[in-house]
Amino acid sequence: MDMLYDCWLAYGKDDSMKWTEKYLSRLCVLCSGRVISSAVKELEAAFGRLTGNIPERISQPLSEGCFILRINDSLGAGGYDISVSDESITVMGGDENGVLYGVFRFLILASGGYPPESLSITEKPCFPLRMIDQWDNADGTVERGYSGASIFFEKGRPVSDMKRLTDYARLLSSVGINAICINNVNVHRTETFFITEGLLPDIAKIAGIFADYGIKLYLSVNFAAPMEIDGLSTADPLDERVKSRWKCTADNIYRHIPEFGGFLVKADSENRPGPHTYGRDHAEGANMLAAALKPFGGNVIWRCFVYNCHVDWRDRTTDRAKAAYDNFKPLDGKFADNVYLQIKNGPMDFQIREAVSPLFGAMPDTNCLCEFQITQEYTGQQIDLCYLVPMWKECLDFDTYHGGEGSLVSRNILGAAGVSNVGSDRCWTGDPLAGANLYGYGRLVFDPALSAEKIAMEWVRAAITADEETAEVICKMLVSSRDIYESYTSPLGVGWMVTPHYHYGVDVDGYEYSPWGTYHYSDRNGMGADRTKATGTGYTAQYAPHNEEMYENVSACPEELLLFFHHLPYTYMLSSGKTLIQHIYDSHFEGAEKAEELLMRWRSLKERVPEEYYREAELRFEKQIENSRQWRDVINTYYYRKSGIDDIRGRKIFR
Ligand code: GCU
Repeated sequence: MDMLYDCWLAYGKDDSMKWTEKYLSRLCVLCSGRVISSAVKELEAAFGRLTGNIPERISQPLSEGCFILRINDSLGAGGYDISVSDESITVMGGDENGVLYGVFRFLILASGGYPPESLSITEKPCFPLRMIDQWDNADGTVERGYSGASIFFEKGRPVSDMKRLTDYARLLSSVGINAICINNVNVHRTETFFITEGLLPDIAKIAGIFADYGIKLYLSVNFAAPMEIDGLSTADPLDERVKSRWKCTADNIYRHIPEFGGFLVKADSENRPGPHTYGRDHAEGANMLAAALKPFGGNVIWRCFVYNCHVDWRDRTTDRAKAAYDNFKPLDGKFADNVYLQIKNGPMDFQIREAVSPLFGAMPDTNCLCEFQITQEYTGQQIDLCYLVPMWKECLDFDTYHGGEGSLVSRNILGAAGVSNVGSDRCWTGDPLAGANLYGYGRLVFDPALSAEKIAMEWVRAAITADEETAEVICKMLVSSRDIYESYTSPLGVGWMVTPHYHYGVDVDGYEYSPWGTYHYSDRNGMGADRTKATGTGYTAQYAPHNEEMYENVSACPEELLLFFHHLPYTYMLSSGKTLIQHIYDSHFEGAEKAEELLMRWRSLKERVPEEYYREAELRFEKQIENSRQWRDVINTYYYRKSGIDDIRGRKIFR
């Protein structure tokens, strides 16, 4: 048993699953298909782990203990029902994927020590599309990857060893993921050729592995591929030669990969090519690709992360936060029905706290997806503990008020895409505790009504220990970790202040005079970005009236987002009775203290968690403390020097 590698599929890590042996010894499989075969393999593997034997296959259910798999269409795509009785356990799925999800759910909960009586459950996915985006490059590097090398590519080609990918497909399907884009949205030269004859056979092998687990494979494509691959002089989406090149490409891809999902496209963003070069809009660009994929049932996923990354910081009229809405809102209703717009959860870029993107709910006639970043680019890089499910949940639960009260983001999207945090590290995620984010992403987008605590608990019990008391401590650490990280970095929604490009560690003015549009505008009197209509950039007007008023009005604005929407004096009084500057000092002192407490709490578990987990995480908690101290001291000194205002509690601020 290798607990780090097994993640949350560590069947038999203790004796919690002993009671299931009676059922697992006989399998009665009343359905068939490639995904069902994977479900059966999983049950066999679990039973093998527990007893060293292979279950007997029977054709009729028996009364003395057996495990039954069947399909019942009425449960819907991906839905399942698990029922546990004295005689048998039946997993019914609405389709093959549903059966697989039900089997995994059963095994995960049983291995986490949840009692048999709690395992009779019925669930169905909230969204049809539940996707993972790899930011993996052909050379084996991973953009914003903190977990080792790519598990998909090495030396310019797809890998040939499928073992790791099969285990990845198992992990993903075990939490209901049904789509994966395997290469970086920034498509460089080599990856541009993934859609050509030389590389498609290898990509097809990977697609086959994922198809066995009910996961469709997508590729990120280069909008300028007709120029780079075929030598055309243009990539204009309305040019007949361009259209015909993409049609041939689609035709060829589907010949190799009949179950191909489609294309993911980052166009006209951060210097990537796109339709704007030819005076065309995003709908014209996306629809051209969509037409090529349509005959085969493929989709185009088009990213809305489009903004000007060459702004002049002197220009106070441009606001990067406004860009996605400005670019896409006017195009509502113009996209083909197999185009999905992928919108980042916030309008900037995966900061620890941002407002929810105003695009959600604002495009009722367009298919939309929400993009989350599981990899912790700005949120601690899998060194600092930061369980992100609470943040994603806030986004999905956010009421857009478009079309009246109760118009939650989760009701305005057809799915989600999460940027993967996985690499070649033994534990997959660098920090083994970051496994909670991968697991949590899958669970949350399967059922956004789940609480962040419940998800964390499931993960801890399956991956680390079924001992409730220990699990409780770890769960609390996870659930508090986002607030801790936020408090010693850049609280109140101000964001950024990170080391440019690298994005770990503090550099308050690192981006302040840069072309990236990410400013905090701190001066001797105050700080924060004024995004109001009254005196600022007018970003607040992109929300439905109810939210616009809330954000526009400083006293109604949620405090955790104050500096995202307002530029305020250091002496501004918060509802806590503290001034803004005092809050900043307190937050950084307390955040750094809490980072130390995390390590102490972890140390208190030394004898109670598997040694491998213990060591890997301890090392990171130690680094987190250093990071939090650096943030604390740099931020406090910076604002003391700007404002000249003392900490009323007289703590150590370096002057
Ligand atoms: C961030 C990130 C980039 C990434 C980009 C994107 O800016 O730093 O590495 O390419 O997001 O989402 O496209």
